[in-house]
Amino acid sequence: MDTYAIEMTGITKRFGGVVANDAVDFAARAGEVHALVGENGAGKSTLMSILAGLYRPDVGRIAIGGRPVDFRSPRDAINHGVGMVYQHFMLVDSLTVAENATLGQRNRRLRLDIAGVEREVTRVGRRSGLEVDSTTTRARPSGTARSAPHRA
Ligand SMILES: Nc1ncnc2c1ncn2[C@@H]1O[C@H](COP(=O)(O)OP(=O)(O)OP(=O)(O)O)[C@@H](O)[C@H]1O
Ligand SMILES: [Mg+2]
Repeated sequence: MDTYAIEMTGITKRFGGVVANDAVDFAARAGEVHALVGENGAGKSTLMSILAGLYRPDVGRIAIGGRPVDFRSPRDAINHGVGMVYQHFMLVDSLTVAENATLGQRNRRLRLDIAGVEREVTRVGRRSGLEVDSTTTRARPSGTARSAPHRA
């Protein structure tokens, strides 16, 4: 059997008396697209924030490509190829989709290759069926979740 790209096992996370994640298992193979669905407060963001290194689980294990990891920061997660695009409040409205995707990335060269990032965002979007125009900004959305309530 091939190895999971991501494997979370028995993840438990408490915030004070609130159990946000209770022994959750999640696994995904490379190239798979998953939707994590649940009611408000079900613990979706908490689980993904643990995977992205923002929170540490109280109990449980994470493996990337079959190797155990212990993320202590989002930087650790990024270094293992785990990135997170947060809901709108974590994005910068005046930046384009591609520019938002570069936030937090360490740029070894003096100039950011934004055209290259735009191509990469388009390529990844096409591959996963989530195509977006990487050159548009959040400030002028076209059919984004954020614009919907204003139109409704
Ligand atoms: N930083 C925090 N401090 C305290 N409690 C938190 C924190 N983050 C989440 N919680 C609590 O943990 C539970 C799970 O929250 P979480 O945000 O993970 O749910 P969610 O499934 O993402 O919900 P939503 O659909 O509203 O985004 C909720 O009861 C929430 O109030
Ligand atoms: Mg959430």
